[in-house]
Amino acid sequence: MNKKIVFSGVQPSGSLTIGNYIGALKNFVELQDEYECYYCIVDLHAVTVPQIPKDLRSHSLDVLSLYLAVGIDPQKSTLFIQSHVPAHAELGWILNTITYMGQLNRMTQFKEKSKKSDENLNAGLFTYPVLMAADILLYQSDFVPVGEDQKQHLELARDLAERFNSRYSDTFVVPEPLIKEFGARIMSLQDPESKMSKSDRDENAFILMLDNKDAIRRKIRRAVTDSLGIVAYSDQQPGLKNLLNIYSVLSDKSVDSIVANYDGKGYGEFKDDLADVVIQALSPIQERYKEYRQDKAFLESIYREGADKAEAFAAKTLRKVYKKIGFIPRI
Ligand code: AMP
Ligand code: TRP
Repeated sequence: MNKKIVFSGVQPSGSLTIGNYIGALKNFVELQDEYECYYCIVDLHAVTVPQIPKDLRSHSLDVLSLYLAVGIDPQKSTLFIQSHVPAHAELGWILNTITYMGQLNRMTQFKEKSKKSDENLNAGLFTYPVLMAADILLYQSDFVPVGEDQKQHLELARDLAERFNSRYSDTFVVPEPLIKEFGARIMSLQDPESKMSKSDRDENAFILMLDNKDAIRRKIRRAVTDSLGIVAYSDQQPGLKNLLNIYSVLSDKSVDSIVANYDGKGYGEFKDDLADVVIQALSPIQERYKEYRQDKAFLESIYREGADKAEAFAAKTLRKVYKKIGFIPRI
């Protein structure tokens, strides 16, 4: 029996946060035995905001090394770089022609990002969700593991698949998002009302997967809580709720059991222990990361092989699409 297909991508724009880890990468690992998985480094997406070429190159290899370090096994999953497979941009174009302006106007991520980057409000930032749909649909993906912030983009991918299928006959699998109940939205440590993001100006707002122990401890100690002083899981204590989510996911303990453990204890002790939990979860990843990151030849072999495999699959889908649309095949 053929395995169902999983696709996801991460942008190579700076270092990844524990939000990326908990909302995405950690789940990628869990899926690779049951599914045929494609995990992409989406560099075409990254250039929708200004990038320094040298850094972009380096960040792409950083993300590849992190994929490997968290436990994604290249024998099981296909790891590749988006720009190596031209079909992404090609299908992106076709899907642009069946996407309504109104749909893109409603994308909340675009609205937020366009507020921040008015000096570079480019068309790519606007059509970015269409490229994301192309990424997913090219591989006939059944499931797409992502954080909560990508939900709306996935709705668009589903919508475009259905629209194309009904216009030109069945072509694409309609993908389902895989969004975890816990950890799909890790919040800023400085403002628990907004998402933890690597582009935050305040360094204390996020923990990077590659932060050292001191930085992790310091950031957790400074994390915003409240004046109630009770370790509890409630909407009245959004800062603490976020910390409890992180604690729970990274320690594999239930929120209830953690809360029970801190009955009558203050935030100081809770935060110290949380720092231990985060350090314990990240240390082995950081060790492996260092090894992979310096082995350029190995990384190269992984992304080359990945691109070969991905390209073969993607080209097949694109051929089908071109034929249905009415493009004349060259051969
Ligand atoms: P990006 O860094 O925007 O490419 O995001 C890569 C993946 O990480 C996507 O699946 C996002 O939904 C997920 N992600 C990013 N930030 C967070 C966060 N704060 N909490 C949970 N998931 C996140
Ligand atoms: N847009 C996603 C993000 O910013 C990254 C991404 C691009 C993606 N293409 C994808 C995620 C396809 C899942 C599937 O996080």
